[in-house]
Amino acid sequence: MATTRFTELTGCSVPVQQAPMGAVSPPALAAAVAEAGGVGTLSSLRMTADQVVRGIDEARRATAGVLAVNVLTADVDEDVVAAAAERVRLVDFFWLDPRPDLVELAHRGGALVGWQVGSVEEARAATDAGSDVVTVQGTEAGGHVRGSRPLRPLLAEVLAAVDVPVLAAGGIASGPALAAVLADGADGARIGTLFVATEESAAHPDYKRAVVDASSGSAVVTGAFATECPLCATSRVPGCCAPPWTGWPPSTGTSSAR
Ligand SMILES: Cc1cc2nc3c(=O)[nH]c(=O)nc-3n(C[C@H](O)[C@H](O)[C@H](O)COP(=O)(O)O)c2cc1C
Repeated sequence: MATTRFTELTGCSVPVQQAPMGAVSPPALAAAVAEAGGVGTLSSLRMTADQVVRGIDEARRATAGVLAVNVLTADVDEDVVAAAAERVRLVDFFWLDPRPDLVELAHRGGALVGWQVGSVEEARAATDAGSDVVTVQGTEAGGHVRGSRPLRPLLAEVLAAVDVPVLAAGGIASGPALAAVLADGADGARIGTLFVATEESAAHPDYKRAVVDASSGSAVVTGAFATECPLCATSRVPGCCAPPWTGWPPSTGTSSAR
């Protein structure tokens, strides 16, 4: 598998980061991806620091691979960032403007920092804030879409604008698609939707089935989830699905270090 600045920096062997996907991406999914050589990412959405630590511990029991924790939304719980930074290789931020104080907090704990962005300006702000990795999210992406431009042209501009390793995100769901963004100069891919349809994913079976049955024209940008859940997905497969997730975050467990 390709060696890139991202694999060298994080210590993973495959230039793929599994995207955090809220309750869809439980520790078992992060562990499976990390065990396969990529970076497995745990969500911290609506969790306390203790719950995040229990999730990390669960994943860590299953793999010695590279793990990340995602922090989403502007009302950041600094205890979550600090606890994650002491235990995983990468603390990953999205959906808030880049903040040097959060980067510093994560660095102090010993972690690298990644920031997912939707524009060249935001990529510059992320590196100015001290981020070690920038992820460029195009409008092809599943979940909440930050910017308004398709991936490949935005990726080219971000690669020209920043010096840190750059991941590409949005619609990458095959080896050739990964090879294409690597050929464009990306240091790897952040992949979400492809992992929805895995055994380890906690997505509803209808959602998994819809992803498997989808074709290249199936994804649409929609405001369908925006009314009662401002941070729910803004792109989805038509006809699918309300989230019936239960059982996460966990209520018991123990803690350990990276
Ligand atoms: C169901 C779902 C939930 C998501 N939730 C999050 C999240 O909690 N935090 C985050 O940073 N990104 C989230 N994303 C977006 C991903 O980080 C990434 O940009 C996206 O999955 C890449 O596009 P792809 O799904 O086509 O691979 C989510 C994506 C999906 C599909």
